[in-house]
Amino acid sequence: MQNIIDLTVAFVQDRLKFAEAGHDWWHIQRVWNNTKLILETESADRLVCELTALLHDIADSKFHDGDETIGPRVAGEFLASIGVEEQVIEQVKLIILNMSFKASLGEVTYHSKELEVVQDADRLDAIGAIGVARAFNYGGYKNREMYDPNIAPKQNLSKEEYKKTSAPTINHFYEKLLLLKDKMNTPTAKAIAEQRHQFMEMFLQQFYAEWEGKR
Ligand code: ADP
Ligand code: NI
Repeated sequence: MQNIIDLTVAFVQDRLKFAEAGHDWWHIQRVWNNTKLILETESADRLVCELTALLHDIADSKFHDGDETIGPRVAGEFLASIGVEEQVIEQVKLIILNMSFKASLGEVTYHSKELEVVQDADRLDAIGAIGVARAFNYGGYKNREMYDPNIAPKQNLSKEEYKKTSAPTINHFYEKLLLLKDKMNTPTAKAIAEQRHQFMEMFLQQFYAEWEGKR
């Protein structure tokens, strides 16, 4: 198993060499670490979880004309090339296809404990201090405004609306980030999310206070 993991790490590091900071190798490493943290108290297949954490963002559909099948396909081809069992590959592919926030807004067709663990690990990396940093990094990458008091955040965006939105980055907190703590699957991740959520609330309060020139 160690050899499979090492080979996968090397593959992912190479593929993500030029990725933007929100989806780079460091994001993968954090999600991998979160996965191992969650597995200390949740039971799920370790190999499937670790491989999925490592491979879940190798081809983000946002950067591939919305094609959500590329990631699972590339992951599957790689795992087959290093001789991983077919049954493991199938699980990894299905989880990658079904675990993103966008996928969860549409029809969710696949469910497993391993999906729950890795999805939680990925979501934990979208909240807290790292979540704040990633949101503004993504907004900057897309050349978006940080905040516009005249553009109200929309709640309950459909999958299509979520993909199309070009709202200021602060709105993303209301459209996604503040909703994540209640979407955690496992009790372990729920507990970790609580504190990270509070940190984002504090961040927003201070952001508005400073925006309005209060001290
Ligand atoms: P997923 O991979 O779960 O579908 P995304 O790829 O949409 O999620 O998000 C990955 C990262 O980019 C997250 O940290 C998220 O907060 C950030 N991000 C995505 N969309 C936006 C946006 N409109 N504004 C700011 N940050 C965003
Ligand atoms: Ni991710």
